[in-house]
Amino acid sequence: MSASLATVSYLGATILFILCLGGLSNQETSRRGNLYGMIGMAIAVLATVFGPRVGAAGIPWIIGAMVVGGAIGLYLARVVQMTQMPELVAFMHSMVGLAACLVGFASYIDTSIALTGAEKSIHEIEIYVGILIGAVTLSGSVIAFGKLSGKIGGKPLLLPGRHMINLIGLLVVLYFGYAFLHAETMAQGMLPLIVMTVISLLFGVHMVMAIGGADMPVVVSMLNSYSGWAAAATGFMLSNDLLIVTGALVGSSGAILSYIMCSAMNRNFISVIAGGFGSDGGKPAPKAEGSAEPAGEVSPILADETAELLREAKNVIIVPGYGMAVAQAQHIVYEITSHLREKGVNVRFGIHPVAGRMPGHMNVLLAEAKVPYDIVFEMDELNDDFPDTDVAIVIGANDIVNPAAQEDPTSPIAGMPVLEVWKAKTSIVMKRSMASGYAGVDNPLFYKDNNRMLFGDAKKMLDEVLVALMKD
Ligand code: TAP
Repeated sequence: MSASLATVSYLGATILFILCLGGLSNQETSRRGNLYGMIGMAIAVLATVFGPRVGAAGIPWIIGAMVVGGAIGLYLARVVQMTQMPELVAFMHSMVGLAACLVGFASYIDTSIALTGAEKSIHEIEIYVGILIGAVTLSGSVIAFGKLSGKIGGKPLLLPGRHMINLIGLLVVLYFGYAFLHAETMAQGMLPLIVMTVISLLFGVHMVMAIGGADMPVVVSMLNSYSGWAAAATGFMLSNDLLIVTGALVGSSGAILSYIMCSAMNRNFISVIAGGFGSDGGKPAPKAEGSAEPAGEVSPILADETAELLREAKNVIIVPGYGMAVAQAQHIVYEITSHLREKGVNVRFGIHPVAGRMPGHMNVLLAEAKVPYDIVFEMDELNDDFPDTDVAIVIGANDIVNPAAQEDPTSPIAGMPVLEVWKAKTSIVMKRSMASGYAGVDNPLFYKDNNRMLFGDAKKMLDEVLVALMKD
């Protein structure tokens, strides 16, 4: 492939990536967005493999690596459960970080790159910064993977003087950066490079270990952003324009997503970027059981009675959460919704930005079950409507409907915006037990006078509700 054809292909792929991001911003266009992304990536890979920079001898190696990597990717994509997606995403981010590190070291020891003067310095800065971002992304993502998959505890690890440790680490990295740039030989430069890599790896571990379980969604999107910048840095090292642009797109869209999630969880964006957030300025988060004291007895309800309330209701809001994903109850939710709508009940869905375990988790499940998009609303669009709602049904959600976020300033989730289901005439919470949600906090909603608890697996209970509804 000629150089100009490769450039035109890169341009086409860039446009397709931008169209992909645009498409992914809306449920109705997201399929098309995905398709644009896939076509763009296919063009990008072909233009790179058969482009002018890869010699004929390298092609079998690249194709061999692609077959192995593609087979692993295909296998993981087929076996991964929807609820494990954040772990898979964290794992993929770690691979981007690893790639940036490996490319950085390879570029440094590649003797075919003979640069001098300013060009040499710029290339070395690219290598140093690229490995730094890559190493932080690699180790941070590995820890995020461990926390999300439950292999590492969710409690924040807060070392004494951790901000000072980070600052000293930064100064050491700057010092060795100076030494690296002024190294006379490759052997001399290797030591500062390795020291910086080790410090960056430790920094990534320290940064994510300091983050409490409830803040992990922001970490995942932040690491997504870091992985984009790591890819962009790799693009600089390899002088590959497409990788620079694509990395910048991922980096900036990840940063925007982090910002949106910070707002949704009432976290300060700057302290997120700086790391070590979600831990109350260095003090450990208050103990879960210390906040939101149980305020009385819970009032259980059965499926028949739930169906009765729904039958009599004019306005119903359904709030799905992680438990709906676990129970795979979205299809039965759709059937109940259709039944009620046929009977003239105004049924709407309220979606919290961090419901479930990944951004858009609930939207994906509802779309899969063919719930019409025009009855699915974001939290802000619906929160004022709860006082006019007859029944608010909470399906396997907990943290996102926890009034302690508003009522208890000592709660670990204090300040997080929540869906105010308790303002409905009746709220019904569907879950299996009194166990807490992801943030590990008790939920005073369960004890409110107008709240009823429908205990059991969400799918099983909803099956029973549908049978009862069909009886009339
Ligand atoms: P959670 O607060 O985690 O609550 C889910 C509830 O579902 C649990 O209390 C559980 O109670 C119930 N449940 C589990 N399996 C069930 C089943 N088969 N049937 C019925 N209920 C079931 O979920 P949420 O309200 O969706 O809030 C999300 C939380 O996850 C937030 O704290 C958020 O910060 C965090 N998080 C979000 C993301 C993103 S990006 N969305 C990523 C990581 C973490 P029982 O065990 O009693 O059934």
